[in-house]
Amino acid sequence: MSNFIKLTTVAELPSPGEAKEFICAGREICVANVNGTISAMDNVCLHEGGPLGQGVIENGKLVCPWHGWEWDPATGEASHDPRTKVAVYPLKQEHGEVFIEI
Ligand code: FES
Repeated sequence: MSNFIKLTTVAELPSPGEAKEFICAGREICVANVNGTISAMDNVCLHEGGPLGQGVIENGKLVCPWHGWEWDPATGEASHDPRTKVAVYPLKQEHGEVFIEI
């Protein structure tokens, strides 16, 4: 059984090439927009806890604002080591609202 809960509205999503932080169900979520593709991942960098949603998108990767580790918003994999992964979460949009499955 799916368990989607409301994250935000479509109007509040980041623009292409940007990321944004959201709080949902007590978790910090990073939502990234890579060329119009929206994805959600944990906001906490696995290096030293940097806020990924405050990072920038470069070449399709989310760059942590603290020390520059790069993350694939679609898979959660770190560019330097695909075995290092932050959690990614399914999203869906309905009637102008955005839902996340945590
Ligand atoms: S905390 Fe993200 S790269 Fe160091």
